[in-house]
Amino acid sequence: VALAIIYFTTNSVRRGLHHDHHAGRGEVGQAVKTALDVGYRHIDDARVYRNEEEVGAAVFESGYKREDVWLTSKLWNDHHDPRDVETLNTTYLDLFLIHWPIAFNRDGSVYNKELTDDPFPTWQKMEEMVAKGKVRNIGVSNFNIWRLSKLLSHPNITIPPAINQVELNFYNPQPGLLAWAKEHNILIEAYSPLGGDGQVGRTLNLPVVKEIAAELDITPAQVIISWHVQRGTVVLPKSVTPARIEENLQVTRLPDALFEKLEAAAVGHKPQRTLNPSESWGLPFDLFE
Ligand code: A2P
Repeated sequence: VALAIIYFTTNSVRRGLHHDHHAGRGEVGQAVKTALDVGYRHIDDARVYRNEEEVGAAVFESGYKREDVWLTSKLWNDHHDPRDVETLNTTYLDLFLIHWPIAFNRDGSVYNKELTDDPFPTWQKMEEMVAKGKVRNIGVSNFNIWRLSKLLSHPNITIPPAINQVELNFYNPQPGLLAWAKEHNILIEAYSPLGGDGQVGRTLNLPVVKEIAAELDITPAQVIISWHVQRGTVVLPKSVTPARIEENLQVTRLPDALFEKLEAAAVGHKPQRTLNPSESWGLPFDLFE
C-alpha cells in the first residue's frame, strides 16, 4: 500500500488544468510526514500535481533516508517530446511513469498524433534515464492492453514497462487487464482504489463490503484495500486525513470465501470508469479504446 497524497480533482484533470483543486500548500507535506510516521514507504506523485518539491521537502524533513523511501513521479503529456523527457528535480526517482498514453504538443496543445501513435521515442528517453541512474524503474499509466502490446513489441525496446498504473476499483475492476498484465510480467498499480471521483461513499457503503467488514471486525476501506492487495496490485489510496492514512495501511488477508464473494460482486456488473479525459481533451477517439 502506497500513499497517493495527491489531490487533483477529476474535473481539473479533465480540463487539463494544472493548478486548481489540488491539496493546499502544507497539506500534502503534512500528509507525507504522517504517512512516513505510520509506516508508509511509497509515495505516488506526478509532475502535473505541482507539488513534487513539497513532497521532497517533507521526506527530507522527516529524517527518513532517501533509500528507504520509494518515490514515484509521472511525465506530463506536454513533455513527451524526447527533448523534454529528462527533467528531474531529484537525484533519482524509484519509478517514473508516462502519465497518459496521449502526447500533447510542446506548447500544450492537443494532441501530437505521431508521438501518441508511437510512444517509443518518449520511451527510449525513459530508458536512457535508467542507464544514467536518474530513475530506477520505468513504466506507464492509463495504457490499455492494445497500447501496451504495441509498446512491448517495439523491435528496439530494451526495458519493458515494469508498471501500468490504472484506475481500479469495485466499479471498474478490470479483470482482463489484470490477467493480461500478470502474463506479461507487468505489475498493476491501482489508483482511485476506493472508488474514485464521487464513488468512495457508495463503495464503502456497499452491503457486501459492510458485511465483510463486520465479519472481520475491520473497516470498509480496509476490506477494499485488502481485496486490492490480494488481487496482486500495488494500491494507492489517497488521503490527507491522518486517521484514514493510518487506517488504510492496515491490510489483512481476506479468507478465500470472502475474497471470492467480493471479487464476484465487483466483476458481476457493467464496468464504470470514473476518469476518462478523452472528451475534455478534445481527442477524436476514446483513449481507452
Ligand atoms: P480525505 O483525503 O479527505 O481523507 P480514491 O483514492 O479512491 O480516489 O479516494 C480518495 C478519497 O477517499 C478522498 O476523498 C479521501 O478523503 C477518501 N478516503 C481515503 N481514505 C478513506 C477512508 N479510509 N475512509 C473514508 N474515506 C477515505
